[in-house]
Amino acid sequence: MSGNSGIGSAKITGIGYYLPEKILTNFDLEKMVDTSDEWIVTRSGIRERRIAAEHEAASDLAYEAAKMAVEKAGIDIKDVDLIIVATVTPDMTLPSTACIIQEKLGAMKAAAFDLSAACSGFIYGVATAQSMIGIGHIKKAIVVGVEVLSRIVDWEDRATCVLFGDGAGAVVLEACEKGEGIIGTYMQSDGSLGELLYRPGGGTRLPFNEEMIRERQHYVKMKGDGLFKIAVRSMVDAAEKTLDEAGVKKKDIDYLIPHQANIRIIEGVRKRLKLEKEQVVVNIDRVGNTSSASIPIALGELNESGTLKKGDLVIMVAFGGGLTWGSILFRN
Ligand code: ACO
Repeated sequence: MSGNSGIGSAKITGIGYYLPEKILTNFDLEKMVDTSDEWIVTRSGIRERRIAAEHEAASDLAYEAAKMAVEKAGIDIKDVDLIIVATVTPDMTLPSTACIIQEKLGAMKAAAFDLSAACSGFIYGVATAQSMIGIGHIKKAIVVGVEVLSRIVDWEDRATCVLFGDGAGAVVLEACEKGEGIIGTYMQSDGSLGELLYRPGGGTRLPFNEEMIRERQHYVKMKGDGLFKIAVRSMVDAAEKTLDEAGVKKKDIDYLIPHQANIRIIEGVRKRLKLEKEQVVVNIDRVGNTSSASIPIALGELNESGTLKKGDLVIMVAFGGGLTWGSILFRN
């Protein structure tokens, strides 16, 4: 699903992010499971990741990121029409994490809901908010990507626990003329491949009980090699479709912000899009894979570094469980 067919569009007017203080290095992990810094760095590019404190839940991280985005945008929180929180690790099933941060932020005019699209959640959230703004339903939205994956990864499974981290990123979107701000969006899913990355227990299919927990079904399961093959192809396809639809050439891109799942996937995407290393935003070495939070955190860091200039053309591309993938093209 692609396009930008509204009467107007939306632009990003504020970017925020939050990383928990605690750093877990590969050397710390060597003491927890049978792994090595060398294996993790060569296979994934990750050196360390952040882990939420015991008292921190998804809404705490999301609130900090959203607050920073709102401050950067300089908007009155009371004018926000919509809050979307993309997450697969909400505080609880009910109410949504979006409603929890709505109250904390004081955005009492807003409609608020969570969105589940794994690592593509932020892209899906921005595309959804952009269309609602573009057709004129609303004027201002906050989209957050947040994960506390440390609570659902199996700390005895070396194949997964070394990859993931916690964090949150957020943007404020505001109405603008068509042709400015977001100029292309793309979303795609393939539910037939859901078991490549899933968490079987803890929902209504396999509710919490002693047996389910004993069998460790409440933790994330991943077939990394299966995902790897599809990831590069899907991300490149999403980027190319978005660019084509917007009538933009690859050579005109200033920055690519890819989902940070694996440095080898990022490199594969970069090469196929014919971009230089300096054009690709990478923080996987310090942050790991934070699923739906990964792109807005990287965007936030790029913005804070001062290198993102007005008028720069940026493409954000994600791929994740579901499977889901998608892309957003915007002019800063
Ligand atoms: N430390 C040491 N050895 C390990 C570890 C570890 N942490 N984990 C696995 N191994 C072993 C395996 O057991 C295997 O051993 P064997 O050959 O004796 O069976 C060996 O290392 C090789 O494992 P592979 O799976 O072949 O390693 P690969 O090069 O494929 O890298 C990885 C694994 C990093 C998971 C890679 O496949 C990958 O990144 N896949 C994509 C994952 C992804 O994109 N996930 C997220 C997308 S969706 C989202 O972001 C939520």
